[in-house]
Amino acid sequence: MDVTRAAAVLAGNWLGSSTVPSRSLYPHQWSWDSAFIAIGLRHQAPERARRELRTLFAAQWPDGRVPHIVFDPGTPPEAYFPGPAFWRAGRTSGIVQPPVHARAVLAVHEAAPDRGFLATLYPKLRAWHEYLRGSRDAGGHGLAAIVHPWESGMDNSPAWDEPLARVTPSSGFVRRDLAHGTEADRPSDADYGRYVRLAADYRDSDYRDFGDFVVEDPGFNALLADGELALAEIAEELGLPSEEHRESAARIAKALQDTLWDNGFFFARDVRTGALTRQHTCAGLLPLLLPDLAVAPALLATATGPRFGLGRVHGIPSYDLTAPDFDPARYWRGPSWSNVGWLLHRALHHHGEHALATRLRTDLLTTAVATDFAEYCDPLTGAGHGTRSFSWTAALAVDLLAQPA
Ligand code: SER
Repeated sequence: MDVTRAAAVLAGNWLGSSTVPSRSLYPHQWSWDSAFIAIGLRHQAPERARRELRTLFAAQWPDGRVPHIVFDPGTPPEAYFPGPAFWRAGRTSGIVQPPVHARAVLAVHEAAPDRGFLATLYPKLRAWHEYLRGSRDAGGHGLAAIVHPWESGMDNSPAWDEPLARVTPSSGFVRRDLAHGTEADRPSDADYGRYVRLAADYRDSDYRDFGDFVVEDPGFNALLADGELALAEIAEELGLPSEEHRESAARIAKALQDTLWDNGFFFARDVRTGALTRQHTCAGLLPLLLPDLAVAPALLATATGPRFGLGRVHGIPSYDLTAPDFDPARYWRGPSWSNVGWLLHRALHHHGEHALATRLRTDLLTTAVATDFAEYCDPLTGAGHGTRSFSWTAALAVDLLAQPA
């Protein structure tokens, strides 16, 4: 693959101090997108990678949370819903996204060492993780709970169907996403109505009270544990104590296993009912990021088995290929996303699965180019879905190219 095309996507989506995930569908700065984007930018434009992350953290809230959207003041209000007028939180939204930022900050420093950048970001990253480990431990298990499906980053995952069923959908709003995407690729209207209701209820409590949707997600918590391991390395680079971060990662890993592991897989838990949601989604594979994971062999067997077909399909399907409601085109109900593929590529190397990792890398690169850097793809055919020229698809291709095959 020629890196020029991917670099051109990132240049085209650069706003001057951050990158939009997509000029059409997502015309502001998104939290976890920016982290993945910085991981690509670090190879070609490290100052832009640092700027991307500094811009995001400049919008961090006093309580430590990093908002899922930082709105661009130059973008017209009708370009995206729900915009700043809905959230009533100044120039940001009030919910969060998965904590991939410590890993991104460390990765940027590894490619282009800059201790000043690390020293500026370290206390902000700490405050972010402390917010998640403290204020969000709704279940009391040492796991961070999410209070909105968008916080998982996997908005319409089938794992949210049961807890979402309690939520009465809002109406009377205009979806802007459908102006840019094929309806069959996007979440349904009923789900969207529930997303809006949950966000409005949370907003009306000044972003404090947990509402009807409170869930412990294995993906979110695996990324938090991985983030704590990255923070440990950042602390060591800065000559600071790091043990607390390693202990925190170990505690989260234990809580994941004690609370969410069952029958060869990690499932999400509905904190309101205490029940595990039994859908096999790609979030349940993300604990493979943790190098010391005791159950890694069983989880790898599920990843390479019929449910996810790792090594035999394109990328990592977001949902169980054998489930009756698997949908190869609709957002997080089946398609493969390149950020999940990139994370699993790392995870496979951690567990010595180098041949599988290499095959996945080749497939991710080929599919990214063949689909013009699509947002997601059909795992069975490789056909692109969602928007094109999607920033993290391009950024993570740049990063994979920079790694040995
Ligand atoms: N991913 C969601 C959206 O499409 C929420 O950020 O808008």
